[in-house]
Amino acid sequence: MSSDLMRFTIAIPAKLLDEFDEYTAQRGLLVNRSEAIRNLIRDCLVQAELSDPAAEVVGSITIIYDHHIPGLTQKIDEVEHNYPGIVISSMHVHLDHDNCLEVIAVRGVSNMVNELSNCLLGIKGIKYGKLTTAATAGRLEA
Ligand code: NI
Repeated sequence: MSSDLMRFTIAIPAKLLDEFDEYTAQRGLLVNRSEAIRNLIRDCLVQAELSDPAAEVVGSITIIYDHHIPGLTQKIDEVEHNYPGIVISSMHVHLDHDNCLEVIAVRGVSNMVNELSNCLLGIKGIKYGKLTTAATAGRLEA
């Protein structure tokens, strides 16, 4: 055990604990109860930090679109080029004859990441789009 780990005792209703154990088991989480609770605490703190528009965040934007729509691919490319410091990388998958999946890794100040996401998701012809903010920069090591 790492020396900076702290132990503490919490009181929790037995039924709630049973449900939590069942929840982690059903999700196939190969973690012990302590790790599961640590994950919840991290997620809680990240969610709180995300309300700060100046927070440094990392995440991904996933979009699906039909590449046959005239000008759409170019428009997406143009928007991504407008945020060179935010877009870290992107992966393009040709899903089928018509549809493309693009996953764009992003990192930067929360309000800029949101602005980029809104620009992409607002492009006419995008069938699906979602920004997933995975963590804030301050939580990458904790
Ligand atoms: Ni494609």
